[in-house]
Amino acid sequence: MRALQIASCEGGPRAEIVRLSDEELGEGDVSITVEFSAVNFKDGLAVTGASPVMKRSPLVAGIDLAGVVESAPAGSGLAAGDKVVVNGWGLAFDHNGGFATRARVPASWVTQLPARFTTWQAMAIGTAGYTAALCALAIQRHGVAPADGPLVVTGAAGGVGSVAIALLASLGFEVHASTGRLAERDYLRVLGATEVLDRAELSAPGPRPLASERWAAGVDSVGSHSLVNVLSKIKYGGIVANCGLAQGMDLPGSVAPFILRSVTLAGIDSVNASTKKRVEAWDLLDAQLDTNHLELMTTTVGLDEIVSAAERVLAGEVRGRTVVDVNA
Ligand SMILES: NC(=O)c1ccc[n+]([C@@H]2O[C@H](COP(=O)([O-])OP(=O)(O)OC[C@H]3O[C@@H](n4cnc5c(N)ncnc54)[C@H](OP(=O)(O)O)[C@@H]3O)[C@@H](O)[C@H]2O)c1
Repeated sequence: MRALQIASCEGGPRAEIVRLSDEELGEGDVSITVEFSAVNFKDGLAVTGASPVMKRSPLVAGIDLAGVVESAPAGSGLAAGDKVVVNGWGLAFDHNGGFATRARVPASWVTQLPARFTTWQAMAIGTAGYTAALCALAIQRHGVAPADGPLVVTGAAGGVGSVAIALLASLGFEVHASTGRLAERDYLRVLGATEVLDRAELSAPGPRPLASERWAAGVDSVGSHSLVNVLSKIKYGGIVANCGLAQGMDLPGSVAPFILRSVTLAGIDSVNASTKKRVEAWDLLDAQLDTNHLELMTTTVGLDEIVSAAERVLAGEVRGRTVVDVNA
């Protein structure tokens, strides 16, 4: 099996294409022929060494994979030939990940892919898109409806942002997109944004803890001042689903939106989300996501191109998603 492995060395991690034997695949009772993976923000951190996100060394990178089951234990609900997806769990944390032609994982990590999606489409969605779906579900569960007013999506031209816009627009919401790349205005409008704002409006320290009420809810993958400013503009009783830290991990704000406007800040984690939540998220994507948008938002690279793709992801240069064809 061919794989992109990361090894910690003096001077930082080294990414290398290697050949591994069946015995080196890792623990697990389900064997999968991997067809596609994806380069997520977290993969960017791991592959470039920008942040230590892997717990073991050496380890195959890639927090996502989609492929076909080779073998699975009886009673697991899986059978040879099933199209499946694995997002997060221990992949590229303490278990070999998806940048490989084969994988072996515990059955509890495996999600059946909705029949409508190909394995390429599953990875065009990937962890970023499935996380966007978890955010959309949090907003729906909170009771926010399209009649309550517009929603804001930060980091709009990134992976989470792009899928969140497409999904929320398809659910009937008016979506405002915040981006640092105003040149992507047309792209964001095609995905379903009705208004595109310059992220500079949100990314600097805000003048007041509460500003005029503007949005009923938000999806934030950026954190820091941007999240604080979004919170300050959420309507009474609204919600922000935060999943990311592209601007920063800090939260330099005030409790005013929570105690004076009853705003909810919902934390979204995709890595260890329950199987029930994963199935709900994939069902929502199945029901709502226009697959034509996936073509528009996705670039495909081979295993040899992952390192440069990872650098572009961290530099904020990738529009939408990067799929990895592990056989290319
Ligand atoms: N909690 C979870 O389980 C989970 C799951 C998936 C992702 N995440 C996190 O969510 C974040 C986004 O992931 P992604 O896959 O969408 O990454 P991505 O494709 O790289 O997109 C991130 C976007 O954030 C914006 N951005 C970058 N630097 C910024 C800055 N300094 N200030 C403000 N905005 C900035 C850019 O959008 P514009 O160019 O449009 O401004 C960029 O495209 C990452 O922090 C990732 O780790 C978390």
